[in-house]
Amino acid sequence: MKFTFYGHACFAIETGGKKLLFDPFITGNELAKDIDINKIEADYILVSHGHGDHVGDLIAIANNTGATVVAAYEVVGWAQQNGVKNVHPMNFGSAHFEFGKLHFLPAWHSSAMPGGEYGGNPGGFLVHAEEHKFYYSGDTCLMMDMQLVPRYAKLDFAILPVGGNFTMDADDAVIAADFIQCDKIIGVHFDTFGYIKIDHNAAKEKFKAAGKELILPMIGETIIL
Ligand code: NI
Ligand code: MN
Repeated sequence: MKFTFYGHACFAIETGGKKLLFDPFITGNELAKDIDINKIEADYILVSHGHGDHVGDLIAIANNTGATVVAAYEVVGWAQQNGVKNVHPMNFGSAHFEFGKLHFLPAWHSSAMPGGEYGGNPGGFLVHAEEHKFYYSGDTCLMMDMQLVPRYAKLDFAILPVGGNFTMDADDAVIAADFIQCDKIIGVHFDTFGYIKIDHNAAKEKFKAAGKELILPMIGETIIL
């Protein structure tokens, strides 16, 4: 399974011949200025919530690629109003897709669209693909609901925010990794803005001390998992 990082909380995962793109926010991210959104391919775009740092390039990439946008009903409605044709609205629960079963699970955060429209509830995704099972929490603080994740799936890896301030920091993400019973964590939502700048080595050491691995990908980097 291929994981490619596009900065902030935007990443692509290729599995079962399908390309899944998460939380597209690239052109608004100074750190990701070398990424050309016109070169990004996607069959599905999964959106955790409506904040600008998660939907900034959603409309452009959805229209470029013809990908199906999977998100909360309200986020999907906003995408449709902005011209996106292929959509699959969800609320918390699960559904089946070509790439496998997908759980849309709660996150403790907020969700409004960039223009202030209601964005529904913020969430995270648990993907049950054939090759691997993985969890992306979306923007959230540490929460007890994460303990449900291992009842649904034995995870191969998880993507968690580690930047603090708006979400979990590395300390909380270590506990989250425990809750979801996963030892391989890819950190996202760090360094983009002043509020979420982190010490990479210190964050990795916290995971190491707990017998876990934290990967902090470089923007543009592809990791084989
Ligand atoms: Ni947010
Ligand atoms: Mn965010």
